[in-house]
Amino acid sequence: MQDVKNHDLPTSTRSHGPSFNARRSSKLLRLAGCTILLFFCGLYATQFSTSDFGPQGVSLFLHDADMDLCPQVDMLFPEVSGELWKSIGQDMRTEEFKKQAVDWLAGAVRVETETFDDMGPVDEDPRWRSRFKFHAYLEQAFPLVHANLKLTKVNTYGLLYEWKGSDASLKPILMAGHQDVVPVNPDTVQEWTHPPYSGYYDGTRIWGRGSNDDKSGLIGTISAVEVLLRNDFKPVRTVVMPFGFDEEAGGLRGAASLAKVLEELYGECGFAFIIDEGGGFTEQYGTVFATPGVAEKGSFSIKMDLATKGGHSSVPPDHTSIGILSALLTHLENNPFERRINRSTPTYRMFQCFAEHSSVMPSSLRKAIRKSINSDDALREVESVLLKDPVYRALVSTTQAVDMIHGGIKSNALPEETWAVVNHRVAITSSVEATISRDISLLQPLVEKFNLTFSAFGEPIPPPSDLYPSEGSLEISYVGGINTPAPITPWDLKDAEADTAPFRMLAGTIRGVFREHRGFADGRDVVVSPGMPTVGTDTRWYWNLTKHIFRYSHHNSGNSTNSFERAHTVNEFLEADNLVETIRFFVTLIMNADESREF
Ligand SMILES: *[C@@H]1O[C@H](CO)[C@@H](O)[C@H](O)[C@H]1NC(C)=O
Ligand SMILES: *[C@@H]1O[C@H](CO)[C@@H](O)[C@H](O)[C@H]1NC(C)=O
Ligand SMILES: *[C@@H]1O[C@H](CO)[C@@H](O)[C@H](O)[C@H]1NC(C)=O
Ligand SMILES: *[C@@H]1O[C@H](CO)[C@@H](O)[C@H](O)[C@H]1NC(C)=O
Repeated sequence: MQDVKNHDLPTSTRSHGPSFNARRSSKLLRLAGCTILLFFCGLYATQFSTSDFGPQGVSLFLHDADMDLCPQVDMLFPEVSGELWKSIGQDMRTEEFKKQAVDWLAGAVRVETETFDDMGPVDEDPRWRSRFKFHAYLEQAFPLVHANLKLTKVNTYGLLYEWKGSDASLKPILMAGHQDVVPVNPDTVQEWTHPPYSGYYDGTRIWGRGSNDDKSGLIGTISAVEVLLRNDFKPVRTVVMPFGFDEEAGGLRGAASLAKVLEELYGECGFAFIIDEGGGFTEQYGTVFATPGVAEKGSFSIKMDLATKGGHSSVPPDHTSIGILSALLTHLENNPFERRINRSTPTYRMFQCFAEHSSVMPSSLRKAIRKSINSDDALREVESVLLKDPVYRALVSTTQAVDMIHGGIKSNALPEETWAVVNHRVAITSSVEATISRDISLLQPLVEKFNLTFSAFGEPIPPPSDLYPSEGSLEISYVGGINTPAPITPWDLKDAEADTAPFRMLAGTIRGVFREHRGFADGRDVVVSPGMPTVGTDTRWYWNLTKHIFRYSHHNSGNSTNSFERAHTVNEFLEADNLVETIRFFVTLIMNADESREF
């Protein structure tokens, strides 16, 4: 998963994005386009029907529908191909299969495919070429996929696999992943228990960069297809797999190019749903929850350039540009964005799911969450408890992080130009416009106090009085890409009008695979709730292709005390058993989607 904040940052003090108004109008056009698009997608919507919760299944959570804070769908298993699915499932229990799965992932980890922030064009920068090795590896490791699927290379390194189904009238499904990984910091190589590109298997875990993010997703997907081909499965519904190659730098060359080709081939809203990497399942308050991401925050960075008069530091002003900029940044930090839980968001539903299904949540919190549906006081109480967690705070609010600063060149010269970069992650209940308006209005009083001229995104912001400011200038501009919050996938099972068929199919599959993998006698179950990642994915390029986008990896992420998520840091690993479950998940998802006629 990418951390968008690091791409395309300035290396010099020069950076002027398009003007505020130009950006705003193109953004409004995009928003309008998207609304129209969603409207058309909506025309295809299948109606919600409570009788359709899957052909087979065990109803575990029986509640009065009105009282149920977090309705669960039944487990969903393939029926038409039920026997085949069972026999594949049996194979997956063998040591032989586990070894095969480990070899598949370990081999992928051994091909280093690092993406750096400063990569040049694909046909120039030799660092992209590692992807060729990766392609050769896939060809050798997945012979049936390469013999039976159509493979198109997009923008040299992007991979687009198409597995044609027999019924062209059914919308295909899109299973995305990315080939690249974040670089291993050379200073930390010593800290790795096993070398980062060893793909070492210790009998339990596969170690190395990418073992989790996202080679486990890519290998899980392509392995599932290889397994289905081995078993002579013939899809009715087309399966498409786009694998980008620069997700860790924003997907500008990979997913962005793949998106264009996909839209040409399959049209706007041409897919039933998209599944891409995301959070896995975690234990919270004694219960396991899976939270497929149905939304994604926006993100962008602003650069604040402050210019003041220079001179000898023997006769300094009260405040140098460094002092003034520090004051502005401190002021921003002293005024965090409002952290409020909004009742209409998937995150609020997730909290309700915790309250409804957790086995050990403190009863005062459980009661407050229940009451908060109607009581604002109770909602404030819930906020005071849950928003202590920085992850939940990030989920409910826009955030700011001062990530870069630069100023001064000599110990006895006044700094004439100072700049800083502030990264914002925009809440799904807010917008890029609202975020920059807030920045501007927060900075304005200080700009006045320091007698600065002020301009934002190319537009001058006039001072409130007619005194001409004289001490310097502050200019705000965008740096890097601007990502608005993603359109929200229909997720609300309590809303009879919402087109939730794909979400229900996914949730039923997650619950079925979780139980099947652990054996039906085991009795442990997973609760599925809509969720949201805090970071970005390649799906930002795929909004035109469907309104049903899920960011979800079916593996155990551990929990805050025992985290299995070591992406982007040392000692990344994946448990072999988790990998087998991931493959089982994709096999079942393909088969369930193949049989569904609800979308
Ligand atoms: C985290 O997971 C471990 C098992 O992996 C479990 O023992 C522990 O209770 C969990 N902690 C929380 C806070 O859920
Ligand atoms: C909650 O979010 C919705 C959708 O973004 C918005 O329309 C509504 O105003 C928000 N409610 C509050 C109380 O902020
Ligand atoms: C700003 O300008 C006013 C009027 O010219 C002056 O009185 C004040 O001292 C200035 N403040 C700073 C911080 O330079
Ligand atoms: C989505 O569709 C709009 C309108 O047709 C188009 O301008 C835009 O480039 C498309 N987005 C992507 C990522 O292809």
